[in-house]
Amino acid sequence: MAQTFILRHCLPIFILLGTFQRSYALPHSSTFYGWASGAGDDESSETEPLRGSPTLLGVVENEVNTKSSGKVPQSAYELALGQGAEADIGIPFVFDDVENPQPIRGDLGATDPGPRTYAYDRLNPNTFAPPGTDDGEVTQGKWPLGLSHNRILSGHAGWSRQENTDNLPAATAMAGVDMKLAPWAYRELHWHSANEWSLIMNGSVRVQTMNEDGQTFTDDVTAGDVWYFPSGVPHSLQALDEGAEFMLVFDQGDFSDSGTSLITEMFLRNPKEVLSKNFQAPLSDFDELPQDQLYIFNGTPAPKNLSEQIVSGPGGVASGNASYTYHLSKQEAYETPGGSIKIIDPISFPIAEKFSAALVTIKPGAMREIHWHATSDEWGFFLEGNARVSVYEAPTSGATMDFSAGDVSYVKATATHYIENTGTEDVVFLEMLQATRFSDISVGQWLKLTPDQIIKDTLHVPDSFLENLSANKQYVIQGNMNLTALTDGLGIA
Ligand SMILES: *[C@@H]1O[C@H](CO)[C@@H](O)[C@H](O)[C@H]1NC(C)=O
Ligand SMILES: *[C@@H]1O[C@H](CO)[C@@H](O)[C@H](O)[C@H]1NC(C)=O
Ligand SMILES: *[C@@H]1O[C@H](CO)[C@@H](O)[C@H](O)[C@H]1NC(C)=O
Ligand SMILES: *[C@@H]1O[C@H](CO)[C@@H](O)[C@H](O)[C@H]1NC(C)=O
Ligand SMILES: *[C@@H]1O[C@H](CO)[C@@H](O)[C@H](O)[C@H]1NC(C)=O
Repeated sequence: MAQTFILRHCLPIFILLGTFQRSYALPHSSTFYGWASGAGDDESSETEPLRGSPTLLGVVENEVNTKSSGKVPQSAYELALGQGAEADIGIPFVFDDVENPQPIRGDLGATDPGPRTYAYDRLNPNTFAPPGTDDGEVTQGKWPLGLSHNRILSGHAGWSRQENTDNLPAATAMAGVDMKLAPWAYRELHWHSANEWSLIMNGSVRVQTMNEDGQTFTDDVTAGDVWYFPSGVPHSLQALDEGAEFMLVFDQGDFSDSGTSLITEMFLRNPKEVLSKNFQAPLSDFDELPQDQLYIFNGTPAPKNLSEQIVSGPGGVASGNASYTYHLSKQEAYETPGGSIKIIDPISFPIAEKFSAALVTIKPGAMREIHWHATSDEWGFFLEGNARVSVYEAPTSGATMDFSAGDVSYVKATATHYIENTGTEDVVFLEMLQATRFSDISVGQWLKLTPDQIIKDTLHVPDSFLENLSANKQYVIQGNMNLTALTDGLGIA
């Protein structure tokens, strides 16, 4: 206990005194400022224990400032490899092996004596020590789902958490819900005014629906597959034997999953006499109705054979282009030297009229090329890995942000961005648009397909730069993840 107390509360003093030893683990936050103890020379404390005396107001006679400086001595911190490089180069350094990260990049910045939370600074090196190319204000475009309130359900049936305009006010075109269903658990029969697109991230789900024409649809989908339910069309989801986790994307930025229409609530909100008349059933049939909504709840095992649960009426069963699912897990990815990309949009999945997506894999050191989307905002979700993104917004703003698995990103239409893998594992990233087909403007392709003379007059780049550009989109560009190699030749120790 005593040792923990010393580590937590007194370590920053060791740092200030320059006696910090690298063998001590740093606390998660530095909090010692002597706030609680005070100077102890306040004579009025007996009469007014909560407040100080009038002698503390304004200039104190004959006082000499003896406070120590807030500067963290050089012996108490080290810079990450590449952190000392010229700020405009913007080396993608990481703080993983750095004991006491500082907001310094090249000639920019200064040390941070606290208060601070080291875990945030380590996770966000490009926010804490931004590249020198950042400038002005960019729309807030990052929301870690780990900061979203989690709705956890009874019986260990599952949970859900969401990103919407409550946490990302600028993300008006789309919202996301991350949902987990335990084995055989249901997301209750429901419907809503937003269109719903979903990527399964783990496990398998049996989906079921019926549309306005009485046409039904039932299918089993697994990790990597997609479903879509148009607004107003009721549906139910049941996890199969492994349970399931999926990311739901809605085309309303202020969508809330606690605001959907539910079958249980609909029964509870109608007089039983009306239910009895409508369904031609005795009142007693409604004696056992749930007295509260179910939302997510445990169910009985679904039959293994899907056909046993296909119900059809005069409208028949939806198939072909009218299907509500797409087995994206079985689509071959388009390979590029830096990774791969799978595109799914209404050209291949027609029912999802406005949902266009790319599932992008980026190898360590590689980068989704600089691009923008002409007509749609981009809602993004990081499934794996660590990356950074710089957004340029007209006319003069630029900001770099770090993302890791579980983070939502949002970029306004026409704002340029790239996604650079800054980690040692692959980055897997979902890019969603509201568009009838997936498209982007590649800056490299644009420059190549513009007369050389115009580009040279404008950007003063050499012929070799123009020769090496490709007339085709690169999507994911290969890169070097070796920071030592990146910093070689920059004169950095
Ligand atoms: C689903 O999650 C489980 C538990 O973490 C893991 O073992 C399994 O590999 C995951 N499946 C897929 C398809 O990601
Ligand atoms: C699945 O169920 C259908 C309809 O009940 C039946 O025709 C079919 O033979 C079953 N398939 C298997 C593999 O059991
Ligand atoms: C399905 O939709 C695609 C794209 O809209 C179209 O090219 C194709 O002809 C349609 N197939 C059928 C069978 O209608
Ligand atoms: C052209 O691009 C390739 C990678 O595609 C690179 O290895 C090469 O150094 C570039 N050449 C010039 C002249 O920049
Ligand atoms: C990184 O690059 C340096 C040379 O710049 C080289 O010595 C080192 O072996 C490389 N490391 C890896 C893991 O490839």
